Amino acid sequence: MRILFLGAPGAGKGTQCKRLAAKLNLPHLSSGDLLREAVKQGTPAGVAAKGFMDKGQLVTDAILIDMFRERLSGPSCANGFILDGFPRNIAQAKALDSLLEELNAQLNCVINLEVDDSLLSDRITGRRTCGNKACAQVFHIKFAPPKKEGICDDCGAELTQRSDDKEDLVAARLKTYREQTQPLIEYYGGKGSLQTVSGEGEPDQIFEAIMTTLNTNCLIKK
Ligand code: AP5
Ligand code: MG
Repeated sequence: MRILFLGAPGAGKGTQCKRLAAKLNLPHLSSGDLLREAVKQGTPAGVAAKGFMDKGQLVTDAILIDMFRERLSGPSCANGFILDGFPRNIAQAKALDSLLEELNAQLNCVINLEVDDSLLSDRITGRRTCGNKACAQVFHIKFAPPKKEGICDDCGAELTQRSDDKEDLVAARLKTYREQTQPLIEYYGGKGSLQTVSGEGEPDQIFEAIMTTLNTNCLIKK
């Protein structure tokens, strides 16, 4: 099963993809997580990416395309994958099309998580993430608070705020999304693989709606 998630910053892509990856036993490939790890490690891709991420802009296509070519061609993705955050513009979508053609594979489903703009800013600025890389559990100060403030329920490590989750960057990230990523809804709509699922409400309900969509419209096999 090869699934792609679209959705604005804060729509809940990471939250739902994590659950789905566990349920379907598929790798969850989050472009943002991969880039943040590259920045942390100080790799050439990370060094090049940081300036763009700090401004809420898209990182150069070539960096993302190389990153995903390497992963999607590898053995861990042989039985499928869940893409979160890549592709993010038309050029990346076309590069993914070519790559899938080379691999003789196709996307089974593109899920667009739809959330009203008015909810996104709160979701983004309230997000806190466990600093322990092996855990990386995501919380929210209002909507999914940890039992003890600032501490991960699962492993006890300190929670951190993503550097791009500050109020002053939210507008820039949403603008980038509108201008460059939203056109992908039409792109995949035209291919007939797009399913829209509401990303509003309780995460459990949203997950159920995603599973129903996959089972009903995407002929999920496992
Ligand atoms: P990335 O990390 O992909 O960020 P994003 O797309 O802005 O999306 P987010 O991770 O902010 O939101 P999400 O939808 O995953 O929401 P989450 O589930 O965490 O990208 C970061 C940067 O990297 C980009 O700005 C760009 O610079 C670069 N980049 C990445 N990919 C790129 C690419 N392909 N090309 C070029 N550059 C690229 O949820 C958010 C919060 O809400 C959490 O706290 C969660 O607990 C809470 N929440 C989730 N669901 C609900 C719910 N139903 N109700 C209430 N709260 C909820
Ligand atoms: Mg995310």
